[in-house]
Amino acid sequence: MAGVVVVGAQWGDEGKGRITDYLARKADVVVRYQGGNNAGHTVEVESKRYKLHLVPSGILHPGTACIIGNGVVIDPLGLIEELDYLHQSGIDTSALRISDRAHIIMPYHVLLDDLAEKRKGAYELGTTRRGIGPAYIDKAERMGIRMCDLMDPQLFEEKLEQNLEAKNYLLEKVYGVKGFEKEPLLESYLKAAEKIKPMVCDTTVIIYEAARAGKNILYEGAQGTLLDVDLGTYPYVTSSHPIAGGVCIGAGVGPTLIDSVVGVVKAYTTRVGKGPFPTELFDSIGDYIREKGYEYGTTTGRPRRCGWLDAVILRFAVRVNGLSHIAITKLDTLGGLEKIKICTAYEYRGQILKEFPASLNVLAECTPVYEEFPGWPEDISGADSYDELPESLRNYVQRIRELTGAEISFVSVGPAREQGYELVKLF
Ligand code: IMP
Repeated sequence: MAGVVVVGAQWGDEGKGRITDYLARKADVVVRYQGGNNAGHTVEVESKRYKLHLVPSGILHPGTACIIGNGVVIDPLGLIEELDYLHQSGIDTSALRISDRAHIIMPYHVLLDDLAEKRKGAYELGTTRRGIGPAYIDKAERMGIRMCDLMDPQLFEEKLEQNLEAKNYLLEKVYGVKGFEKEPLLESYLKAAEKIKPMVCDTTVIIYEAARAGKNILYEGAQGTLLDVDLGTYPYVTSSHPIAGGVCIGAGVGPTLIDSVVGVVKAYTTRVGKGPFPTELFDSIGDYIREKGYEYGTTTGRPRRCGWLDAVILRFAVRVNGLSHIAITKLDTLGGLEKIKICTAYEYRGQILKEFPASLNVLAECTPVYEEFPGWPEDISGADSYDELPESLRNYVQRIRELTGAEISFVSVGPAREQGYELVKLF
């Protein structure tokens, strides 16, 4: 039996879909435990690209049970759209199960996300405007509507009325915009409920029984460590817990059932949205990385900010997630650069900082201390084994191992399944 968690070690978009897809081949169950359709996982199978937002990557492997856990916030209409897209691509989604405790995203959450961002002006967070934050606010305020409520038309109507009263007051009196009418919402959501009903159940039972039966369970994180609402670069974070600790709450599983935690590290750093980013590149190298790595958001299409790899962030990720392993992605994107850098510490007002600071004012004033490495050729395809990859690339990987102390379990040099090298077997 193995319980393996895959988390993003940076600001999201590390290529987790690539790693979870690989591990999902041997997993019996794949579980999403937080976030919602703010996430975008791109997985390439036999030169076909699949873009997933809510459905776990395990869906691309026939026979793997897939779970959307209680910690996820679900836009039911978005979910149906994603399922239709998968069906049109010939993917069987009958193995998907959805937690009856998961909260649902309503159109007023999406509108409030947008209005709150606009109201913040220069302080906007740069959210995906999918209603994620407002849905988690309702959960904490004990106003949220859960999947089990949606499955009961009368209860759903009551909860909707209660919510519309509060939300329409806010929309009309505070924001000065038109509120929502109950009937169209009721109709579209109850129609969606009929479609997803066969998938809704107590998913904690499935996970627990699979663990007891000695099956392989993969917990698939969305976003990344620095977007965690507690441990990330607050307030420029998402509203959930992408870190490994989020698995226990968001999947409803105890820590004793987790064996290893893999941090996915992109060979450089990117972020979308606002907030300080010490190794950000504003020059032609940043543009080179953005274009070569196609660093544009899967969900919003926004260009991502790009910079060198930051080992201060990685050490933080190792600590707060308890990373046992690291999977490195997109090493091919750096191919063709003469020199490559890794930030090993920050300089702040004449002092050397080794640990990632909590204060964003401090972070904004940090300048990176770099180590420099020789690059590798642009084309590194065709290596049959990891040892056949260029020595300079392997030295870079080895340095990441030394700087973090975590074992490197996987190295990927391209999106296709055969462009990945497994160095440690986790399942
Ligand atoms: P929200 O999750 O839409 O509320 O956005 C909050 C912050 O998280 C913003 O900076 C977003 O750009 C960022 N974010 C949310 N989802 C992702 C993701 O999947 N990848 C990278 N950044 C994300």
